Order: sequence, then structure tokens, then C-alpha cells
Amino acid sequence: MQPSTNHSQPGFLIALEGGEGVGKTVQAGLLMKRLQAAGKDVVAVREPGGTVISEQIRAVVLSAKNTGMKDTTEVLLFQAARAQIYREVVIPALEEGKIVLMDRSRDSSVVYQGMVRGFGRELIEQLNDISTKKTVPNLTILLDAPVEVGLKRRNGTAKVDRLDMQNDGFHQKVREAYVQLAKENKGERWVMIDANKPVTDVEQAVWQTVEEKLGL
Ligand code: TYD
Repeated sequence: MQPSTNHSQPGFLIALEGGEGVGKTVQAGLLMKRLQAAGKDVVAVREPGGTVISEQIRAVVLSAKNTGMKDTTEVLLFQAARAQIYREVVIPALEEGKIVLMDRSRDSSVVYQGMVRGFGRELIEQLNDISTKKTVPNLTILLDAPVEVGLKRRNGTAKVDRLDMQNDGFHQKVREAYVQLAKENKGERWVMIDANKPVTDVEQAVWQTVEEKLGL
């Protein structure tokens, strides 16, 4: 099922997606700099998070201490954080004609909760539509890399959160679900980029895609 959209705002929404450790956050920073250098007005945010309230929800949903969290609670907390950031930041910025750059958004829920946790795509898209007021990215960039590569990078750096603690089978399913979505929607808003390459190569591929889509 394709998400429906009433996204008729003048702005442009770009979402970076992918499994753990594929380099979304680094690439989001690099893309932000390039867009600003091109004179664009950009707002960059991450999900879950990006507002005071959403960051508080993030702390709860990702805390490694919350091992007792039920899957349904997880589904609704990601959506609660999303409802807040879309109303507070994303939709107003799009209405002002800005570029909004998101480190994860609605498709993370489709993959992690819908396809991997098993809640189903249809239910998650319905919840996404409520949380986002039917806003869908104009461009979704999937950074794809083998699970081992991502987890190795992750172990070397960031703090381990509750979802990072899932087993390798979970992360493999995440990767496959993302690739499935990108293949189904090829030529539409999804573009898949090989992230198992040096950072500058990935940066170049991301920029080429964005330049093309924005007509820069
Ligand atoms: P984060 O540190 O932001 O991403 P990453 O680990 O890729 O650097 O962690 C966010 C975690 O939350 C990540 O494991 C994916 C998960 N997530 C969902 O399961 N559903 C969602 O809707 C979102 C936004 C994130």
C-alpha cells in the first residue's frame, strides 16, 4: 500500500533512511552543508526527536533500560514523537517553502514496526497519516549497506540503544524490508544508494540525487 498524501506545500521534504550504522547522520550533516552552500533554506531534524517534547519521548522509547517495553507501546511512542515534530516543525517549514531534511521518518516505522515487528504496513501507514497529516517525503534516500558493516561501525562509536540491542536476524530483516520498499517504489520518491563505500563517495551520490530532484 502506498501512503496517500495531501503534501501540496511549497517546500521539499527529504528523508534519509536505512539500518543501524549505515551513516545516515553523517550524510545528513554533509547534505545540509551542501544545500546551505547552494543558498537553500534548510531545516534539519531527526526522528524520533527534533523538538523538546519529541526528544523526551525519544529518551523513553530508545532507553536500553526499558527492556520491558511492549511492542505496541513502541509503535505508539514513535508515532507520538512524530505527531509532535510534524506539527511543530516539519509542516510549518514546508509551508514556508523550506527544505526539510529528516534523519529517519515515517518509513522507519513502516520497516521496523510494520514489516519487522509484524504490525503490518497498512496499520502503520494509517498511523503515519495521522501523525504526519498525510505528509510524505518528496525524496527518500535509502543508504544501504550489509548488516555486519553497519553494526561494526556502530559498535565502534555511538551509545547502544534499545533497538541496537536486537539480534543480527532483526537487523537483516530491517535491511531486506528497506530494499523491498525501495525496489517497489523505484523511479518514484525512493532512491537506493550503496553506503558500503567511502564517506565522500556516498556524499557525492547523495548530492547528485538531490541536485537532480531539486533541479539545481
Ligand atoms: P537513531 O540513533 O536515531 O538511528 P540510528 O541507530 O540509525 O543512528 O535510533 C533510532 C532507532 O529507532 C533506530 O534503531 C530505528 C528506530 N526507529 C523505529 O524503530 N521506528 C521509527 O519510526 C523510528 C523513527 C526509529
